[in-house]
Amino acid sequence: MRVLVTGGAGYIGSHTAVSLLERGHDVVLVDSLDNSSRTAVERITQIAGRQPSFHELDVRDEAALSAVFLEERPDAVIHFAGLKAVGESVAEPLRYYSHNLDSTFALLRTMTTHGVHNLVFSSSATVYGEGQEAPYAEDGGLLHATNPYGQTKVMLERILSDIAHADPRWNIALLRYFNPIGAHESGLIGEDPNGIPNNLAPYISQVAIGRLPQVGVFGADYPTADGTGERDYIHVVDLAEGHVAALDKLREPIGVRAWNLGTGRATSVFALIQAFEAACGKSIPYEVQPRRAGDLAQAWADTTRAETELGWRASRDIDAMARDAWRWQSQNPHGYAD
Ligand code: NAD
Ligand code: UFG
Repeated sequence: MRVLVTGGAGYIGSHTAVSLLERGHDVVLVDSLDNSSRTAVERITQIAGRQPSFHELDVRDEAALSAVFLEERPDAVIHFAGLKAVGESVAEPLRYYSHNLDSTFALLRTMTTHGVHNLVFSSSATVYGEGQEAPYAEDGGLLHATNPYGQTKVMLERILSDIAHADPRWNIALLRYFNPIGAHESGLIGEDPNGIPNNLAPYISQVAIGRLPQVGVFGADYPTADGTGERDYIHVVDLAEGHVAALDKLREPIGVRAWNLGTGRATSVFALIQAFEAACGKSIPYEVQPRRAGDLAQAWADTTRAETELGWRASRDIDAMARDAWRWQSQNPHGYAD
């Protein structure tokens, strides 16, 4: 297939581009480079041995996006582009709602104009909110997120479902990611957050490389085995392969369907720090701090549906995630800025 990837220079988009190229798909990357670098596009080519097309544009610029569709004639779209920082979304809800909704509306109108109806959408486990208990299954109950970023995912899932129900030509996969971490095993592409990381794994990496002094552990009094929060960390390359599997599924008429992409296993904050210590061969200083507002004690996926329907299963463990994250961090101490 010829696949247009919005946000294709970003963390998950770049790894997915590599997986798509390696599986023989043609890839068209569209990215504003607001939260990524052109270097990522060069590295994708270096790893895959094949070059994707690349268009630097904001998908909200509908005229420019339409020109790309006319030139590239994609069969399907994977839509990663958007804003993703939870705390920022609480501080600037209008910017988050308008960016994530407007960009998706512009994309959907452009796809309609050009007769492209196959879409893979980046959703998040954040749509399960606080209303359900782990493991989360796709049909476990009403979706509700606790912050504006998460609400944009809930709203967009609803909007995409309505569109697919109204017009049978649409085929839409909603992929609910758990906690993507790690990097491509080449060490050439990885996560490159702006400023101080919000998420645990990149924070640990930056402590390990000496950019930050210590990890703050947000609560060690949760009702979990070691008292720290537990999450379903998934290797970004497994996640990327999940997108290739979802794209294959779109060859059948599915209408709209949601799949969790996780491992089904939970790892604590302390256990993740230990895995990074083993990977980098140094001890990683940490300090237990108060809980972070809005955090759950535990979250992990029920992966049954993705395994049975997509024939996909995550295969890389926490040690591989830490090892590959560390390879990326140590080869690129300042991310793509090096
Ligand atoms: P990222 O910021 O690394 O990638 C997003 C890319 O989209 C960036 O390269 C950015 O420059 C680009 N972009 C943003 N707005 C754009 C626009 N209007 N037009 C064109 N390009 C634009 O983020 P990521 O971690 O790769 O996340 C990708 C998607 O997955 C997002 O939709 C995110 O909400 C979702 N997601 C991420 C996680 C996670 O933990 N990383 C978890 C669940 C869901
Ligand atoms: N944590 C720390 N210290 C830190 C950062 C995090 O102890 O510096 C803890 C958190 O309390 C939590 C765990 O590490 O227990 C994971 O936190 P992350 O911030 O890495 O990830 P979250 O599960 O909170 O959130 C992530 C994404 C969201 C997404 C959510 C559900 O950041 O965008 O998963 O998919 F919505």
